[in-house]
Amino acid sequence: MRRVKTRIQLDIEDTPTHYVNILPYLKNPLPPPLNPATGDPIGPEALMALFPEECVKQEVSMEKKIEIPWEVRGILMRSGRPSPLQRAVGLEEALKTPCRIYYKREDVSPTGSHKLNTAVAQAYYAKKEGVERLATETGAGQWGSAVALACAYFDIEAMVYMVRISYEQKQYRGTLMRTYGAQIVPSPSDKTDYGRKVRKEDPDHPGTLGIAISEAIEDTMKHENTKYTLGSVLNFVLLQQSVIGQETIMQLDSIEETPNYLVGCVGGGSNFAGMAYPFIAEERFRDVQCIAVEPKACPSLTEGEYRYDFGDTAGMTPKLKMYTLGSDFTPPKIHAGGLRYHGVAPTISALVEEGRIKARAYEQLEVLNAGVLFAKTEGVIPAPESAHAIKAVIDIALEAKKKNKSQAIVFNLSGHGHFDMAAYGALLDGTLNGESVSTTSRVQSETVSITKG
Ligand SMILES: Cc1ncc(COP(=O)(O)O)c(C=O)c1O
Repeated sequence: MRRVKTRIQLDIEDTPTHYVNILPYLKNPLPPPLNPATGDPIGPEALMALFPEECVKQEVSMEKKIEIPWEVRGILMRSGRPSPLQRAVGLEEALKTPCRIYYKREDVSPTGSHKLNTAVAQAYYAKKEGVERLATETGAGQWGSAVALACAYFDIEAMVYMVRISYEQKQYRGTLMRTYGAQIVPSPSDKTDYGRKVRKEDPDHPGTLGIAISEAIEDTMKHENTKYTLGSVLNFVLLQQSVIGQETIMQLDSIEETPNYLVGCVGGGSNFAGMAYPFIAEERFRDVQCIAVEPKACPSLTEGEYRYDFGDTAGMTPKLKMYTLGSDFTPPKIHAGGLRYHGVAPTISALVEEGRIKARAYEQLEVLNAGVLFAKTEGVIPAPESAHAIKAVIDIALEAKKKNKSQAIVFNLSGHGHFDMAAYGALLDGTLNGESVSTTSRVQSETVSITKG
C-alpha cells in the first residue's frame, strides 16, 4: 500500500474571509446586460427590483476581494466549511494512472452540494433588507434545497419552482425542501401566467430551468416583499462560490502540490467558477488547464453560440452575452437536471472566448458509468452533474497514462447523488439511453409582460 495523505483538512478558522471577484482579472470588460426592449445597456438599478441591493453591488463590483459578512461565514463554518480535499487513491489505482487525482468535497454540505455557499449569503442580504419571502427555481433540486435551508436559518418564506421532470424523478428532494419549510411546485405550474401558457401548449411539458426561472421571476414581481434568488450564472452568485477554490489552494499548498488540471461540471457555471476563479486570479497558476464539462444533451459551450440571449425562456430577464443554445431550447430529459440550462455564465463564456477555459461534452451513459466507477472506488455516489467532471477526469488521467505523464488533477465534487437513485437504477437496469442533442424538442418563446403588485 502507498502512503499518501488522502484527506487534506483545514482548521475551521481557515474558512475564507473574502470572496474573489473575477471581473478585474478579465482581459476585456464584461459585455453589459442589455434592455431587451431598447437594446441599450442597463445599469445595476434595473436588477434591484429582483435581487437584494448588496448582491447587485457585488454583480458589478471591480474590487478584487469582497468581505464575507461574519454572520454568513459563521453559518458556512457550522455547515461543514472548510470542506475536505480528498485524494482519489481508489480511483487512481483502478485506472492504473500515474496521475494524482484530488476532489473537493462539496457533497458534505447538509443539503448535499455547493449551492448552500451562495444561498446563505443571498438569504442573509435579503433578510438585512427586510425581505420576507424568496422565490426561486430549481433543476435537480440541489439549489432549491439550499435555498430552503438558508431561508429556514434566516426565518424567510421560500417558494420553489422545481423543473417538472426532476420533481418526478426526485420526489424525496421535494420532501427535503418541505422539511426545511419551503413551498414547492412542479414547473411549468399553474401558479403563474407563463406556467399556465406553457402547460396549455403542452400539458406534458417536462419543464426546463429557463421556464422555471421565468415562473420564479413572475412570482417575485407579483408578490409584496419578495425577492428572487438565483443559484448560478450571475457574477455575484459565482463569486460567492469562490470559497471553494480558495480553500483548495490552501489545501494544495499545505501538501506542496500544484495542479495541472482543474475540472468541474458546468450548468450555469457556479461550482466550476467557485473552484477555478481563485486559481485564475493568481499569476502562479497561469499554466493550470481549466476544463469545463457539460452534457452532450445540453452542449452550450461546445455547440452553442456566443451572443446576447435571455437568461430565461419567457424573455423577462435582461439579455446577457453568453454561450447559448437559445432560450427556447428544451434539453432532453437527462438525469443531470442541474445541467439542463441553455446558457452559461457570462464570465465563464468570456473566459472561454479568451481561451483560458476549455470545454468538453459527454453523454449521460458514459457519465453515469464514470459515476459508478467512482462510487465503487471512492465510496461516494456522485450527483449525475458531478459525474460529468469525473468522466473528464478519468479521460485526462488515461490520456496522461498513455503518455506516461504524472499530472495533478483536481476536480470539484459539486454534490452527492443520494437523491439520484432513479438515474443509477436505470443505468443498472440497462434502461438508460445516451441522450444527445438530436432528440430535443423546442418550445416557442414569447415575451410575457408583468407588473409588480
Ligand atoms: C450537484 C450539482 N452540480 C452542479 C450543478 C450545476 O450548477 P452550476 O453550473 O451552477 O454549478 C448543479 C445544479 O443544480 C448541481 O446540483
